[in-house]
Amino acid sequence: MFETVFLGHQGWLIGTASTKVLLDPILTPEFSAVAGAGMKVFPPRRFDPAAAPALDAVIISHEHDDHFHLPSLNLISREVPLYLPANASWAMHRAAAAMGFQVRAMAGGETFTVGDLEVTAYSPDFRDVTTDEWDVMNFFFRDLQGHGSMFTNVDVPIAEPIMNALAKSSPKIRTYTNNFLDLGMFTNWLPRQGAEALLPDVVSLLQAQAARWGRPEVVLTCGGGWSHTGDLDWMNQACFPVDNERLAEALRVLGASPDLPVVGAVPGTRVELAYGKLKSVEEGVPWLRPAPRQEWPDRTFARSFPRRDRITPLSSDTSELSEVEERLLVERVEELGRRMAGSDLFLTLLSLTPEEAGRYARKFVLVLQTSAAGDGWVFEYSPASCGFVSATQEVDQYIGGAAMWARDFLDLMAGETTPGAVTFGHLLEWRFGEVMGKWPSFSFILWQELHPLSQPELREHFYRRQIAALAPAEPMFRGADGAQAWAASV
Ligand SMILES: [Fe+2]
Repeated sequence: MFETVFLGHQGWLIGTASTKVLLDPILTPEFSAVAGAGMKVFPPRRFDPAAAPALDAVIISHEHDDHFHLPSLNLISREVPLYLPANASWAMHRAAAAMGFQVRAMAGGETFTVGDLEVTAYSPDFRDVTTDEWDVMNFFFRDLQGHGSMFTNVDVPIAEPIMNALAKSSPKIRTYTNNFLDLGMFTNWLPRQGAEALLPDVVSLLQAQAARWGRPEVVLTCGGGWSHTGDLDWMNQACFPVDNERLAEALRVLGASPDLPVVGAVPGTRVELAYGKLKSVEEGVPWLRPAPRQEWPDRTFARSFPRRDRITPLSSDTSELSEVEERLLVERVEELGRRMAGSDLFLTLLSLTPEEAGRYARKFVLVLQTSAAGDGWVFEYSPASCGFVSATQEVDQYIGGAAMWARDFLDLMAGETTPGAVTFGHLLEWRFGEVMGKWPSFSFILWQELHPLSQPELREHFYRRQIAALAPAEPMFRGADGAQAWAASV
């Protein structure tokens, strides 16, 4: 028997008759580990810890907030070995050890076994991809008894060497991560997009996979597993153009079933294989099932959603900055500016022609708001100034810019919060002129500049704060006998 159970977002239980492993679990109703982010796991679900299986290992694919989720790891018994990417920052490894886990590092291309489950962890090829998914690993799981296998590429395209490596293995269960988000309402240049922009690409991607790897038994759609609450609940209608279940439905039609047997996974969806063939697809297991549909927040996409002209603060503290904070703000902005040499924004500003810029200054403006009325600090960035300096022109005279709350910026730069929490709803970006080519996203600069591999000290601070705030919890998942023996031996 080989089984896969969807936990929600991009979390899975992968199991054989005698081995159970979790991948990227988010086990709490809160999606973000950042207090006040107001993000909930979607669809909502019901866990019954009393019925949960004992675990042989937990594997984390990378260090993004939605995969390495400390409040969820807190619900796992510490005797369960925790496998982390060798390429992830030391902050991640230290945080896991500080929580009491025995940590094992996975190197790209390494194969290891957990019970009768063989796991191969692949590092993607980043040479042609612009991303900040630097430490991510793809995984191929194989039941040593021969009942089944699964491959997931998590958040990145599948690199050619991995396509080749798996041609013989022919993963029986594959995943499609629906990371399709529409954040066009926070910019003035991104087109608002619906499902039509995605479907043909996904069909050809899955068909190309099938051509190389043979027909899968099942493709499971996952990802985009959160909703917004509070001030940002309107984002539920604005951000998620492609519902996972409807995506699966459309792919089944367009992909000429049965060649593309796609299932829209909801929490608790369980796929079982036996002797390499699909045995069953169930909607729910004794320990996990989706909440009744009437409890699901409405995420029906409204294409006509208006662009924003105001930003919502992430921090609940919207008081004026103190003098100390003001000095710190200037310092932090200067620091960030110095680190931006060579960034996409730096390169774009260097490259803009007078025709593209038109009447706008070939500089970037950053507005750090300190009041709801829009007052705040305004800085300009240009490669020649080697960083941010005080703005010399009106905000609308710059070719492009971004705005966020000053305190959110300070929190980011102090490791109190993460780009993952700020990007969704707390940052506004714009550009003017007839800029040819891609306009760099400031939020992407923040993702890169504040990535744990860029600033591990900041992330360590964030983890320490989180760990200190975690209450001792009854584990939702206990260690299997093998895990306990393993823990006792190290
Ligand atoms: Fe990621």
